[in-house]
Amino acid sequence: PQDREENDPEKGLRVSDKGFLNTAVIHSQITYIDGEAGVLRYRQVGYPIEQLALHSSHLETGYLLIYGALPSKAQLKLFESEVMHHSIVHADAENFFRSFRYDAHPMAMLTSAFAYLGSYYSEANPSLQGQNLFTKSDPASLANMDKQIYRLIGKATTLAAMAYRVRQGRDFVTPPSGLSYTGQFLYQMDHLGQEDYRPSPVLEKALDVLFLLHADHELNASATTVLQTGSSLVDPYSAIAAGCASLYGPLHGGANEAVIRMLISIGSPENVPAFLEAVKKREKVLSGFGHRVYKTSDPRSFIIRKTADEVFKVTGKDELLETAMALHDAAIKDDYFVSRRLAPNVDFWSGLIYRAMGFPYDFFPVLFAVPRVVGWLAHWRQMMLQEGGVKIWRPRQIYVGAAKRDYVPTEKRE
Ligand code: ACO
Repeated sequence: PQDREENDPEKGLRVSDKGFLNTAVIHSQITYIDGEAGVLRYRQVGYPIEQLALHSSHLETGYLLIYGALPSKAQLKLFESEVMHHSIVHADAENFFRSFRYDAHPMAMLTSAFAYLGSYYSEANPSLQGQNLFTKSDPASLANMDKQIYRLIGKATTLAAMAYRVRQGRDFVTPPSGLSYTGQFLYQMDHLGQEDYRPSPVLEKALDVLFLLHADHELNASATTVLQTGSSLVDPYSAIAAGCASLYGPLHGGANEAVIRMLISIGSPENVPAFLEAVKKREKVLSGFGHRVYKTSDPRSFIIRKTADEVFKVTGKDELLETAMALHDAAIKDDYFVSRRLAPNVDFWSGLIYRAMGFPYDFFPVLFAVPRVVGWLAHWRQMMLQEGGVKIWRPRQIYVGAAKRDYVPTEKRE
């Protein structure tokens, strides 16, 4: 119809790009991905993920992502101690977690908990203060921003552990001091009253590597959601809650759980060929393979595969490992997958590690969301401090509904 908006030459060109397949919404210096070559680097065309996984830690890499450079020794010490200092949550949070049903999904609890947390910190809430609180030119505003960053990273593990303990029907544990970020996280989940309890250093390190690998991945759905939400100048807790909600969806944070369910359904290596035939007939999907950006192996998958071996030395081999290896080895040689450039992604092996460590399957997305907090914050901080200030993200649509028509009074309608 003539009066449809997109046909109005006065309104200029409008591009239709469902799912943002080809739309860049920001200039970013945080993460670089070359999907054709299977390359992932953090901070500009900077540090290769393989080097960081080998030598860095999740918190050091978090600092790099957020502030743009590796910290000095003193900066790292301060950052770690601020994050750990802020790991304790208000005692009322116990009542909040206790208000959930006994079988509430941990991601539902974590998502709500981030928003709940925001209700405590009015100094981070521009709606209450009536202005953008975070500007580059003002040191006090930067210090305020840093504080929210420490809090969100520090409390993420505590909130996640509380969600875990609610599901287990256990009392909550105060975050311990003197442990690493993943050490205190494991402690808060696994502590059952033994005074000198310490998590296994191998599992603590493996989880730290997994956290680092999940710290950021450019403008995926959840990072985009954080920015879209944050662009209204809402407080960072609400923006992170929105990102967490986006990650909760099975197309984003749920694939490693799908891998485990797939491996269980295959059952044993001799059933792999029949399963692959079913995939080729499109009756099944090979979970943990394929990626929108990577058209070769996801570089993180190699590191996770190695980490899995370290973990199995402590936990014993997962009984699904043989099937996973048979499936992996057959698929990477199979023409169907090779011709479509479908290779293992980050989720193919990570679920096996989490399963071996004893995490329930519905906790897997939480283990993705907690480390991703640093990436979300890096994107949020970059946007808030960008030259020219923040512009609200308000995409346009192409209207395809009815043309103008006149209202018909109810009594005259059929
Ligand atoms: N198993 C079987 N076939 C597949 C798979 C798969 N895992 N992935 C893609 N294909 C096929 C498609 O059917 C299509 O075949 P066709 O050309 O004959 O029609 C072809 O490969 C191209 O795939 P697309 O669907 O166009 O790829 P897209 O980029 O849209 O999807 C996605 C990427 C969603 C990751 C997809 O590969 C998939 O569903 N993989 C399994 C789920 C998974 O592991 N997700 C985790 C991704 S990583 C992350 O989010 C952290």
